[in-house]
Formats: sequence, C-alpha cells, structure tokens
Amino acid sequence: MSDAPKKLHIKTYGCQMNVYDSERMAEAMGTEGYVLTDDPAEADMVLLNTCHIREKAAEKVYSDLGRLRPFKEAKPELKIGVAGCVAQAEGEEIMRRMPLVDLVVGSQNYHRLPEMVAATARGERPVDTEFPVEDKFEKLPERPATGRPTAFLTVQEGCDKFCAFCVVPYTRGAEVSRPVARILAEAGKLVAKGVKEITLLGQNVNGYHGEGDGGVWGLGRLVRELARIEGLERIRYTTSHPNDMADDLIEAHGAEPKLMPYLHLPVQSGADRILKLMNRHHTAEAYLRLIERIRAARPDILLSSDFIAGFPGETEQDHRDTLALIEEVGFGAAFSFKYSPRPGTPAAERAGVDPEVADRRLHELQALITRLQHESQAAMVGREVGVLFEKPGRLPGQWVGKSDYLQAVHVTSETPLQGALAKVRITASGPNSLAGVLV
Ligand code: 5AD
Ligand code: SF4
Repeated sequence: MSDAPKKLHIKTYGCQMNVYDSERMAEAMGTEGYVLTDDPAEADMVLLNTCHIREKAAEKVYSDLGRLRPFKEAKPELKIGVAGCVAQAEGEEIMRRMPLVDLVVGSQNYHRLPEMVAATARGERPVDTEFPVEDKFEKLPERPATGRPTAFLTVQEGCDKFCAFCVVPYTRGAEVSRPVARILAEAGKLVAKGVKEITLLGQNVNGYHGEGDGGVWGLGRLVRELARIEGLERIRYTTSHPNDMADDLIEAHGAEPKLMPYLHLPVQSGADRILKLMNRHHTAEAYLRLIERIRAARPDILLSSDFIAGFPGETEQDHRDTLALIEEVGFGAAFSFKYSPRPGTPAAERAGVDPEVADRRLHELQALITRLQHESQAAMVGREVGVLFEKPGRLPGQWVGKSDYLQAVHVTSETPLQGALAKVRITASGPNSLAGVLV
C-alpha cells in the first residue's frame, strides 16, 4: 500500500446550502486523509451531494450514478456515496435501484460520514437519514482557509412553511436555528482567514430564531452583531419568506452599511388564488406593501424573487397577474421554474396545467425577467459601486467580482485584485455582467 493521499470527487447539485455542505464534507474527509479532485476517473471516492427540489434535479442524480458504472468496474474499490436531499428523501430506495452505491447519507448526518466510509471498508452499505438532535456542524472539523474572500455560513436549516409544491420541509426537516455564539465564532474564524463577505444561509433564513444573550434573537439582531466584526465588510442572507421580514430586519437594511442592498424574497406568484392554493399565507398586495417598506428603508435595494409557472389550477388570468406583479416590482433579478410535481407534497395530488401551456408561460416569465434584469444592469452605467474581487477573469489582466448588488463586474488591472474590495465606475453593461474601471 502506498500512503499517497486518497482522492475525493464531490459533485454538488442545487442550492448554496449544498455548496456549503459539500465544503464541510470535504473538510470532514480531509481529516481522514482525502484530498479533493475534479476528476472522477482518478477518485477513490465519489460523493454526489444531491437536490430534490424539482423532478429534473432528482432524475439527474440517477443518470449520473449510471455514468459512474464504468469507473467502478475499472476500480472496484471506488466508493460511491449519495448525500443531500435525494439521499434524505429516497434513502434505501437508492440502494435498491443502484447496487453500485456504497453509502447514503442524509443532509443532517454529514458528521457521521467518516465512520460510514469506514463501515463500507468492512463491506457494509450504510444508510443514515435520521434527523439527529445534535448540531452536525459542531461535530465537523474547523474550516480551513480557502483563499477566497467570500464564504457561506449556515445559520438555520429546515422549513415549517409547507408550501404546497415544496419538498424542503420533508427533506431538510423542521426549522432549526444555530445558537448565536456558534455563528459569531464561525464568522470570526472565517474573517481571521481572510473572508470579507459572508452569506448567511437558511431555507427560511429570515425565520432565524437562535439562542442568544438574553433570549431568542431574530435575524436582524444577528446581522447587526455580525456587522461589528472588524474586517467583515459585507453581509448577505438567503433565502427568505415574505411573512418573516421582521421590522428590525427591514430597519437593518437602512441602518447597517455592511448589509448589502440585495434581497432575494421569493413570492412564487402574483395571483391571490394561486398564492392561497400554494399555502403561502400572504396576498400579492401584502407582498407589494412589504416591498414598499423595504424600499423605504433602502431605496436602492435590488430585489430578486422566484416564480413557478403552471402551478396546478393556474389560469391565464393568474399568469397575467404574475407578469403584472413582476413588472410592478421591477425585479433586478429573478428565477422562474416550471412547476414539477414532487412526491409527497399536497400539490402533486392535483390536476396539472397542460405542459405546453406551462412551457409557454415559463418562457413569458423568463422573457420579462430578462428584460428587467437588462434594464437594471444598464441603469448601473455611469454609477460608482463597491466590488469585491474574487478571481481572475478570462482575458489577461482581467479581474471579476460582485457588486454590492450581486452583479458580476469585470475590470482590467495591472495589479492583482483578488480579495480586494474597491470602488468601480461602471462603463458598460453586457447580457450577464458589467464592465468598469477602478475609481
Ligand atoms: N416545482 C417547481 N419549482 C419549485 N420550487 C420549489 N419547489 C418547486 C416545484 N415543485 C422553486 C420555488 C423555490 C425555488 C427554490 O424552487 O420557486 O423558491
Ligand atoms: Fe419550500 Fe421555501 Fe415554501 Fe419552505 S418557504 S416550503 S423552503 S418554498
């Protein structure tokens, strides 16, 4: 046996929380002597960190597993693991359908990964999709420096909202908030390692209610406390529910300069009938009034949302109401998805919209969103904006980063800009990014 490090390949699907979880799993396996590789062909272990939010995402996992078969045939000692929300939702079913899989680890059990890998070496095929009481993050090793100026930090997991289309309450479980002290400690360590921007993550992040000094803290208070960390320059959070936008969080957008002027606040539909069928517990009007209050606190905030096209029962008028709401808010960014029935959710039992109609509505949503996004980008030309540079661009001397409003910006500079936070004057707006010059 050689003692060359073993190689781990992780493929991450879906949301930013999976990106964060993949990093933490890589660190856990790092203490077992594994180093990361981009190439599955040279890996000793392949881990798929999966997403169950829409049918396509879940099916992709099975086809990717099929594609790993030749690697396993060439190297029978290759370990294949399935993690994330498909693992959580389908557990044993994956083992039955895919004999090449060695372990299945649900989203709350990543701290158990090393012992599970050890069990596979004894010929076992462990499955762990329990919801344990302990905080998995406390059991995972400390995070090493990455050299990147941005980091994710999970503060809350799970969701109690039960929107009629959504699997998250089933795959990620009930809402749990990490205690304030642990979040502050993790943030402090990230900043000491050179991180300047932290994005707080949670499936329902603005529902954060963690144990802090003197009782339970909401997200607004947590943000203000994090903002006191010297060297931390930018704070973001995602994803939020309209009904959990507390007054002090809205105020923080006006009062706390480190809280970036970008908010992803999904509304899903602009039609009250559909919002009710979706179990959203708010009307379109309530959303619009909320947006007014947020803009009163921070007039330049860039707003983003998610929309679903072709939710069961959606009429042409409902769809037009959604287009009208998008136009009225003037989102600077947004995501739209064709409704996908998810097993176990209430909406999956209902009669669906004709798929061709749903496709056409999706295209209409996307066309409107793209137009608004371009308008919002074009309006940046001539303005000065903060940019945190993350990496070199494609062209020589080019550096790319994100503006305060989370837009991609590139500039040309002789001196390296990696990790620098600088003021940039925007000179041009392209389809997906802005160009500028250092001020
Ligand atoms: N079908 C289509 N889109 C969905 N989303 C969640 N569940 C579904 C589904 N079953 C979308 C919502 C959510 C985003 C993350 O994914 O818009 O905000
Ligand atoms: Fe899913 Fe978000 Fe609704 Fe929770 S609030 S059920 S995560 S869409």
